Amino acid sequence: MYLTLDYNNMMSEFVGKHGVTPEDIAALSDQIGTAGEDMAQKRENGGMDWRELPYNQGGTVAEIQKYTNEMKDRAEAFVVLGIGGSALGPMAVQQALNHPFYNELPKEKRGGFPKLYVADNVDPERLTGLFDAVDPAKCIFNVISKSGSTSETMSQFMIIKALLEERLGAEAARERIVCTTDAEKGLLVKIARGEGYRTFYIPSGVGGRFSELCPVGLLPAAFCGIDIEGLLRGAAEADKICSVPDAYKNPAYMFAVLNYIAMKKGLNIVVMMPYADSLKYFADWFAQLWAESLGKKFDFDGNEVYAGTTPVKALGVTDQHSMVQLYAEGRWDKIVVFIGVEKFRRTIEIPRLYADMPSLGFLGGVTHNRLIRTEMAATEYALLKAGKPNMTITLPEVSAETVGRLIYFFEVATAFAGELMRINAFDQPGVEEGKNATYAMFGRPGYEEKRREMEARPGKSGRYII
Ligand code: PA5
Repeated sequence: MYLTLDYNNMMSEFVGKHGVTPEDIAALSDQIGTAGEDMAQKRENGGMDWRELPYNQGGTVAEIQKYTNEMKDRAEAFVVLGIGGSALGPMAVQQALNHPFYNELPKEKRGGFPKLYVADNVDPERLTGLFDAVDPAKCIFNVISKSGSTSETMSQFMIIKALLEERLGAEAARERIVCTTDAEKGLLVKIARGEGYRTFYIPSGVGGRFSELCPVGLLPAAFCGIDIEGLLRGAAEADKICSVPDAYKNPAYMFAVLNYIAMKKGLNIVVMMPYADSLKYFADWFAQLWAESLGKKFDFDGNEVYAGTTPVKALGVTDQHSMVQLYAEGRWDKIVVFIGVEKFRRTIEIPRLYADMPSLGFLGGVTHNRLIRTEMAATEYALLKAGKPNMTITLPEVSAETVGRLIYFFEVATAFAGELMRINAFDQPGVEEGKNATYAMFGRPGYEEKRREMEARPGKSGRYII
């Protein structure tokens, strides 16, 4: 089985007046057709290079495997220095496919592979804290930046470079830094070439949040023993089904269509709720993909559209005891997407204790595998009864192949939603203002005008500070 999308509970027939009708979908048929044609056209013209990653990474995979084999015994930990699309994918894939306490296991139980850390934030307690846990001189640092100029990542790189050179000398320090960046653009590639760092390249048309299936994700995954060929195989399988023009036969298109209709009906929040700890960070990865791709002020024609819906991350069953009350009885502003897993990699059974206490005894002999699936079904039912639209994606198991499928499925769904909304899903102009303001505050050359603009803003009033 590939991956199923069950959207019964999105339909008015089942969920009532806040749901979607077949007529809602039929009314979009021209738009869906055009969006599909535009997707195919853009792919053909090289405007969606991330779609070719399942097919064109063979040589890179071989290089990554060779490099990993050469270096893995020399590293206690592999540390990703990256942020956004250069961090969330590696985190999600590692958590999905490795032991839940991977870093806590002794090396032999990690298959001889190093620990994996992702240092994305610039919180001063984080990097320094990491060095209390692992010796930086025994780590390999993977500096990942598509643009090669992201301040957060480059600041971490500068700290690490200085630290390693001081501890190990320039020659040995060089061996411990590996870069992943664009082959032409940005400062990182220049620095990497100048310093002689081992470098893997992000294909030029592949942007940050769509880059998990190139060295951005494949190198960290290989360094913690993940089957990277399996990831790509799964993505290629997903490509077949996610390229079908008929939305009724294409789960990625249907996911986008349902979200689009929900947005038009004022359901502006999409809760992503996997029922598997291994997929917890997948919700984080999805949130960035969806939010940064679809949250756009202008459409293709320059009209102000303020598009996008707000992704919210949740985890089943944990959030049943936190967020589900709101999802069931709160405002009519959201849909919930469950991700279920048919077969877990391990089984644990609850012992038959307290048989004389019916409110505990019923659990005896039940596996946690069954309990988590049953609780997901029960929550689907509770939301249905409350009239809250929801849908369920089911994976047969969590494996390299199914994770590859899921990544590709969500990428196509997001791009297709962008086409339906007629917005550019591949840029992020909304994050530029904050970046430029930071540069101006630091007095970076070229940002003098921005600094003047900021200084001219009204000062804060003490009346509103308590
Ligand atoms: O999806 C995106 O483009 C962003 O989230 C980027 O990945 C993030 O800003 C980091 O950029 P870069 O890889 O250029 O350092």
